[in-house]
Order: sequence, then structure tokens, then C-alpha cells
Amino acid sequence: MIGEKMQEALNKQVEEELYSGYLYLSMSAHFSDSGLPGFANWMRIQAKEEQMHAMKLYDYINERGGKVTLLAIKQPPAEWPTPLKAFEDALGHERYITGLINKLMDLAIAEKDHAANSFLQWFIEEQVEEEATATENVDKLKMVGGDGRGMLMLDREMAQRVFTPRAAGE
Ligand code: FEO
Repeated sequence: MIGEKMQEALNKQVEEELYSGYLYLSMSAHFSDSGLPGFANWMRIQAKEEQMHAMKLYDYINERGGKVTLLAIKQPPAEWPTPLKAFEDALGHERYITGLINKLMDLAIAEKDHAANSFLQWFIEEQVEEEATATENVDKLKMVGGDGRGMLMLDREMAQRVFTPRAAGE
């Protein structure tokens, strides 16, 4: 059985992950509108990953005999002045999410909730990857520095991304 505090915190995290998906989908829409279909593809797949993160939490709450309560998702921004700024925002957002996951782990430890502790381990590792990927994207965009040919190349590279969620223990 899941504790009340943990249930509330995990429900909040479902919302945070759904918002992450909403934010990246908004970035995808923005890139589609800006003539960068590869960037749009990358963000669309990122949004799908976030949906998967939310559903992982959703399933866990149910599995532990808890109750999922969906909260309101706020409206994300719709425009970014440059692709670099969008990816910088994505990195900042991932750092924020890492902080939330760490707080969830703190709660699992404080509550002596070993099942939640074990479950959250996947998210701890996932955030290492999320931040590393976001940093890599920011670095690439900084290197290109808005140069047309470089942007085109990067757009082609981002068009290659496919949805490959990381399984448990990978
Ligand atoms: Fe669900 Fe990008 O962290």
C-alpha cells in the first residue's frame, strides 16, 4: 500500500511529466512552423518519452493500490527567439525535473518506502541521460552558431531520431 504523502507527490510528478511532454510538443510545433522539420521530429519524440515517464508513474501508483488524480497542466510557451534558446530552455527544464526526482527520492528515504526507492532509481538514471542529451544539443547549436548550412545539417541529424525508450535495468 502506498503512503498518502508518496501518493500525492507521485501524482504531482505525473503532472510535471505531462507538462514536460506539453512543453516539448509546443517546441515541436514551433520548429514545424519555423521550417525545421528535423528539430520538430526530435522534440515530438521527446514529448512521447515524457508521456511514457508519466505513464510509468501512473502505473506504479495503481500497482501499489493508490489512486491516480490528474491535475491541471499549464499552458507552455509557444515561441522561442532562436533554436538555441529553445534547447537551453529544455536543458533548464530537465535540471528542474532532476531536482523534483531527487526530492521524491528524499521522500522515499524519509518514509522508509523501499518499493518507491527502487522504482525511482530508474528515474534517477533517466535524468542523467536526459541532462546529458540536452547538454549535447545545446553544445551542438552553440558550435553551429546559427550558420545556415550547419543548421541544415543539424536538422537532418535530428530528423533521424526514433522513439526508443530505455527499459528497466538498461
Ligand atoms: Fe521526464 Fe525529460 O524527464
